[in-house]
Amino acid sequence: MIGIKSADELQLMRESGSIAGRVRDALAKSIVPGMTTLELSDYASELMKKQGAESAFLGYMGYPGVICVSLNEEVVHGIPGKKRIQLGDIVSIDIGVRFKGYVGDTAVTVMVGVTNPEVIRLVRTTERALEAGIAMAVAGNRLSDISHAIERVAVESGFSVVQDFVGHGVGKKVHEEPQIPNFGPPGKGPVLKSGMVLALEPMINMGGHEVDIIDDKWTVVTRDRKQSAHFEHTIAITKSGAEILTK
Ligand code: MF3
Ligand code: CO
Ligand code: CO
Repeated sequence: MIGIKSADELQLMRESGSIAGRVRDALAKSIVPGMTTLELSDYASELMKKQGAESAFLGYMGYPGVICVSLNEEVVHGIPGKKRIQLGDIVSIDIGVRFKGYVGDTAVTVMVGVTNPEVIRLVRTTERALEAGIAMAVAGNRLSDISHAIERVAVESGFSVVQDFVGHGVGKKVHEEPQIPNFGPPGKGPVLKSGMVLALEPMINMGGHEVDIIDDKWTVVTRDRKQSAHFEHTIAITKSGAEILTK
């Protein structure tokens, strides 16, 4: 069963979503070549604290970081550390905050002085795929209409969709029902209803869709070590279409 949020819950999720969005945008702006991913994470801690929120990821299933920072061939779940961000990198930042009991979950891939046109195309396509998914997040549609719309954008651009990680419902917990694959035929799964809150998050690869997890037990990398991009918004389904809570 997919939870339906009450009006009061939705209001709290607007707040947690907007905090997550603000942290995301501030982090994206703060990136400079030479900084470590841990420095980025420390800034995230400071910003969350200032807004009365905390990381929803730290300790989740034993995850050791405050945010996830994944560079280039890293898809998701990169643990902040000593690695330095370099000119030409793409940096995927995934932020989960908890505020008054509710989670906001959002991600962005930032290009740091990227000039490679294929990498730029990958990042733009992934963002467009998210937008296409959001456009299908309308009451009365079925869940896989979202999945299919995301996949179409990726595949039409010649890229591949990560299959081993998916979008999800979100609320008091980071991951609630349902799982939302970023691929598949349209018209399947539960009917979308007003009050559902979903985290849509396409992960799109330059090369093949296959991924591996490295020795740190968390970082997901592309098997062919080509680049991957990730964009995510927490959205609410309302009477008048999708409302992006993490704008
Ligand atoms: N990438 C996941 C999501 O956005 C959350 C990461 S959970 C963590 O749904 F524990 F790895 F942080
Ligand atoms: Co996320
Ligand atoms: Co998520």
